[in-house]
Amino acid sequence: MRIILLGPPGAGKGTQAAGIVEKYNIPHISTGDIFRKNIKEGTELGNKAKEYMDQGLLVPDELTVGLVTDRISQDDCKNGFMLDGFPRNVTQARHLDEFLNEAKINLDKVINIEVDKEILVSRAVGRRICKSCGATYHVEFNPPKKEDACDVCQGELYQRADDNEETVSRRIQVYLDETKPLVDYYSKQGIIADINGQQSIDKVFSDIVVALGSDK
Ligand code: AP5
Ligand code: ZN
Repeated sequence: MRIILLGPPGAGKGTQAAGIVEKYNIPHISTGDIFRKNIKEGTELGNKAKEYMDQGLLVPDELTVGLVTDRISQDDCKNGFMLDGFPRNVTQARHLDEFLNEAKINLDKVINIEVDKEILVSRAVGRRICKSCGATYHVEFNPPKKEDACDVCQGELYQRADDNEETVSRRIQVYLDETKPLVDYYSKQGIIADINGQQSIDKVFSDIVVALGSDK
């Protein structure tokens, strides 16, 4: 199964990704997570990406496309993968298509999670993430059982640097200007499935499973 998860910041891509990769047994490739890991490790890529991420802007395509095509060339992606947060503009989507055509592989589905703009800001600002295992919570909508500790591993929870109101609003605008055109792009390929992201986390997941069809 080769899947793209599309949707604005705070739509629930990361939340749903965890269940999808487990069910379909495919690697989860999140460009945002890869950049954050590089920032933490202080690599050159991380330092460059940070300048853009802190402002809520897209990291330049030349730092992003090769990173993803290299990753999906690896052995563990032979039977499928899930891209989360890539592609993010039409240029990235075209590069991905070229790469897949050359490799003679097709995308199965683009899952487009839809959430109203007003809800996105409160979702992102209230998000908390586990430092140890990466599990995602929300102070109000999906609180951990014990305040400030992860349910899964008891790890410490933190807030992302770009999850303040000002940067989130910028990220939403960047989504509308640069990423939303991809809905049209993949509709034309006939592989998009629109999912109502304003339902419970479990209901969103079961709608995604229905859209993906049989287990592969
Ligand atoms: P990235 O890390 O991809 O972040 P994003 O797209 O902004 O998405 P988020 O992680 O904010 O949201 P999400 O949809 O995963 O929501 P979540 O599940 O956590 O990108 C960050 C930055 O990296 C970009 O701004 C850019 O600079 C750079 N970047 C990344 N990829 C790039 C690329 N390809 N090209 C260029 N630059 C790139 O959920 C949010 C909250 O809501 C959580 O607290 C969760 O608990 C809660 N929640 C989830 N579902 C529900 C529900 N159904 N009901 C109630 N609450 C819910
Ligand atoms: Zn944890």
